[in-house]
Amino acid sequence: MIELRNVSKMYPNGTKGLNQMNISFAQGEFVAIVGLSGAGKSTLLRSINRLHDITEGDILIDGQSITKAKGKQLRLIRRNIGMIFQSFNLVKRSSVLRNVLAGRVGYHSTLRTILGRFPEKDMNLAFEALDRVNIVEKAYSRADELSGGQQQRVAIARVLAQEAKIILADEPVASLDPLTTKQVMDDLKKINTELGITTIVNLHYVDLARQYATRIVGLRAGQIVFDGPVSEATDERFAEIYGRQVGKDELLGEQRV
Ligand SMILES: Nc1ncnc2c1ncn2[C@@H]1O[C@H](COP(=O)(O)OP(=O)(O)OP(=O)(O)O)[C@@H](O)[C@H]1O
Ligand SMILES: [Mg+2]
Repeated sequence: MIELRNVSKMYPNGTKGLNQMNISFAQGEFVAIVGLSGAGKSTLLRSINRLHDITEGDILIDGQSITKAKGKQLRLIRRNIGMIFQSFNLVKRSSVLRNVLAGRVGYHSTLRTILGRFPEKDMNLAFEALDRVNIVEKAYSRADELSGGQQQRVAIARVLAQEAKIILADEPVASLDPLTTKQVMDDLKKINTELGITTIVNLHYVDLARQYATRIVGLRAGQIVFDGPVSEATDERFAEIYGRQVGKDELLGEQRV
């Protein structure tokens, strides 16, 4: 469903974010991408939905090249890909409902969405999405009145309303406490299993990756240094790959190494 063919991404200052990467993700997979700071995790996700243009290679989404797509075709491919960020990226002063309805803008003319008119189907989708992440009662609250975990669930509801087939989440729980982290990760997992949405999540800690993912991909310097099932992603293996210098609060979690 997602295929990277020999993908490199060089930033204008000469830094290589991705270095000749080849990898595929199948429909319905829940993949965790791990790696130290600067390994290329964000660059990878941003390249997949073309928030970044890659400098070499090709990225196919359902067989279609997003790298070469233009105009309407690009919009149609992007509509199937939902992004979730560490910082939630909500319109803080708007209601929760409006934020979730923003997931529908790819389906309408800009004029209609500026005027804030959404058909009943969109309203139903938005409420269904809020229900799925258990915050329907917050629909009319202002987004910035919600806790961090609730705001992240609004962001999840937004990609559900978008009817995305793929979710790319860039450290979705990095600014959340452990309990809220669990709630948000549980929601992502539930959506993945119930709706079959292909999910790729950048995570800082291997522990968390092991709890939720079915496949773990380890990056270093823009290259894949591990790709396998959770059962093979042991602490020993990761210490081997990343070295014992991987310190207390890096990658293996605070209580590790
Ligand atoms: N806009 C940019 N301009 C230049 N270099 C960049 C830019 N963004 C990222 N890089 C560089 O590309 C490499 C990969 O960065 P990336 O942000 O993808 O890493 P990451 O794995 O997401 O790290 P973190 O865990 O800190 O979020 C790093 O060397 C980084 O410094
Ligand atoms: Mg990052």
